[in-house]
Amino acid sequence: MTHARYSWTDKLCLGIDQAVRALADNVKTTSRPYPADTLPKSELAILDPTQQKQAAALMRINHAGEICAQALYHGQGLASRNYHVQEKMREAAIEEGDHLAWCKRRLDDLGSHTSYLNPLWYSGSFMIGALAGLLGDRWSLGFVAETECQVVNHLQNHLQALPAEDKQSHLVLQQMQQDEAQHRDSAIQSGAQELPGWVKKLMTLTSKIMVKCAYWI
Ligand SMILES: [Fe+2]
Ligand SMILES: [Fe+2]
Repeated sequence: MTHARYSWTDKLCLGIDQAVRALADNVKTTSRPYPADTLPKSELAILDPTQQKQAAALMRINHAGEICAQALYHGQGLASRNYHVQEKMREAAIEEGDHLAWCKRRLDDLGSHTSYLNPLWYSGSFMIGALAGLLGDRWSLGFVAETECQVVNHLQNHLQALPAEDKQSHLVLQQMQQDEAQHRDSAIQSGAQELPGWVKKLMTLTSKIMVKCAYWI
């Protein structure tokens, strides 16, 4: 087994830095291009106020979901005792950083705000991630696989719920859905442990509460 190369002080500083950056929408990203930039200007529709409000509410939920993804990966990375897992989780959080930045940009374009409850989503998800990290690598990967699986399904629902005219949000969510499916498959291939049914149900319930709250605030 590879031993952690971070001291507890390193971990505390890293944890604080990661949390502050996530909540300030200033996370590290891979700088991949914004998916909606491929859309020709002629295809940009002007949304009416009802469509704009609906699109913003859904994108706020997705932004909050990406805050949770940051926290889950940060929590798992800091709690894992294996240096390679720590690094893998840190890299995964950077890849997810693209999604966070895209959702924020779309929310800005729609003239709306991120969820006011983001610090709460971050704290809760960080604790869940840390617990998964402490349980060991296979459980931790199982947790990643199940989370990503639920996110892929959730994004499918949102792709149907978005106003058809909002092509930018569609392109962002389609790219995110592809990425999340890859994250799920890579976790399974790396030896993810299948989670017990009750844990999956609890995860579904928790995400439903977040979705309901973030739609409004
Ligand atoms: Fe994501
Ligand atoms: Fe993901």
